[in-house]
Amino acid sequence: MILDKDFKIAEIDPRIYGSFIEHLGRAVYGGIYEPDHPLADEKGFRTDVAGLVKELNVPIVRYPGGNFVSGYNWEDGVGPRDKRPRRLDLAWKTVETNQVGVNEFVDWCKLVNSEVMMAVNLGTRGVDAARNLLEYCNHPEGTYWSDLRISHGYKEPHKIRTWCLGNEMDGPWQIGHKTAEEYGRLAVETAKAMKWVDPDIELVACGSSNTAMPTFPQWEATTLEHAYDEVDYISLHQYYGNPSNDTASYLAKSLDMDNFIKTVISTCDFIKAKKRSKKTINLSFDEWNVWYHSNDADKKIAPWLIAPPQLEDVYNFEDALLVGCMLITFLKHADRVKIACLAQLVNVIAPIRTENGGMSWKQTIFYPYLHASLYGRGVALNPVISSPKYDCAEFTDVPYLESAAVYNEENEEVTLFAVNRHLKEGLYLECDIRSFEDYQVLEHIVLEHDDLKAVNTADAERVKPHHQGNAELKDGILIAILPKSSWNVIRLK
Ligand code: AHR
Repeated sequence: MILDKDFKIAEIDPRIYGSFIEHLGRAVYGGIYEPDHPLADEKGFRTDVAGLVKELNVPIVRYPGGNFVSGYNWEDGVGPRDKRPRRLDLAWKTVETNQVGVNEFVDWCKLVNSEVMMAVNLGTRGVDAARNLLEYCNHPEGTYWSDLRISHGYKEPHKIRTWCLGNEMDGPWQIGHKTAEEYGRLAVETAKAMKWVDPDIELVACGSSNTAMPTFPQWEATTLEHAYDEVDYISLHQYYGNPSNDTASYLAKSLDMDNFIKTVISTCDFIKAKKRSKKTINLSFDEWNVWYHSNDADKKIAPWLIAPPQLEDVYNFEDALLVGCMLITFLKHADRVKIACLAQLVNVIAPIRTENGGMSWKQTIFYPYLHASLYGRGVALNPVISSPKYDCAEFTDVPYLESAAVYNEENEEVTLFAVNRHLKEGLYLECDIRSFEDYQVLEHIVLEHDDLKAVNTADAERVKPHHQGNAELKDGILIAILPKSSWNVIRLK
């Protein structure tokens, strides 16, 4: 590997370390909010969970969905709690109590030092509900909706900057699913009205729900034909799994994600060219993760419960490796991926798990996300990498070494993130760090485990990082052994 401070990709937008809380399962109720919990604060938020979220330093959290938002009446979740209606949530077949809504979520984000990324309902609703919600949140005072917010106890506007125009509108499972033409028209009209209410906001149009959608990537092209001038980002969603227990293919799935990103960039730029536009549309990868462990359990959950344990994937060690590879993929595309949300944050396909009334703990995937969020800030560098490769059932020419580097000019620190995909052998890393003269190895953090299927539970943290990596510098060359199937963070200063 060769690493040089002149090989710059772009300044990293910290929002690539965002996450997501949906009204789904126990993400909100029993997750971030549980007024009866012994560790709840005066607003009902679990302080143990808030502490773990703060540790992750999550810059932005998408809310309130997901599929949920496409049937959501935001007005149900504001005002006196005892007057809030219970409603059927058709997306997840549950009953929503509305005890948490927009204002409580803004309060929670303040508690954990995050920004809100708000989604509007373009499934059952449209321009009117979206512009009203924005006026409620962001308009200072003196109008019906802003004064209603003030009457609910929120004098200052919430100043929510980033807004999603619906969720996965290309998917037949979505309440109010639309064709690309229908969505493109609705998105542009909603965007126009919202920017008239508040010109400072940024808008994310829905892209495809995953690469397997039959309408991908024509969906992106059609949507942007309509909405290019009014929106700022297009969304990408993707989840992976290893149901056939083929770990070599599973760990290579970040190559599919890389290809997805490249295709969406090309599609955005094709429309840019068609429109002779000077504006560039960036990418918001606002749902990504591993999701498959809980699929069978979810089929057995009875309908119309309040906050049942849905999508509670128990993550193993190999999942943490793939999550690491996906984070590295975002860094490689720091010039165009400006927002990314790990879906989700608490209980629902999440790095943080809780028991109702009990403990909270860190799943395996907590760690690569933590390291990237803490040390992956600054300028993404493009290291020149030459790695041995392998073929597997689903991919050819998969590099054993997946790596990205970040230069934090302010702290004069360089961090190398590296996954060794080899399941049996360590990789010998030799990296010429020529422009970083006089730098020393601060630490070499390693996440490794003999059992790829090892998991963390409430009472046993089997998968956690250690700091005994052997990276060292010899005559300006960084040398390290990256253990078989491992996530590595090598920090230099
Ligand atoms: O994150 C879980 C679900 O996955 C979201 O509600 C939806 O947008 C996606 O299909």
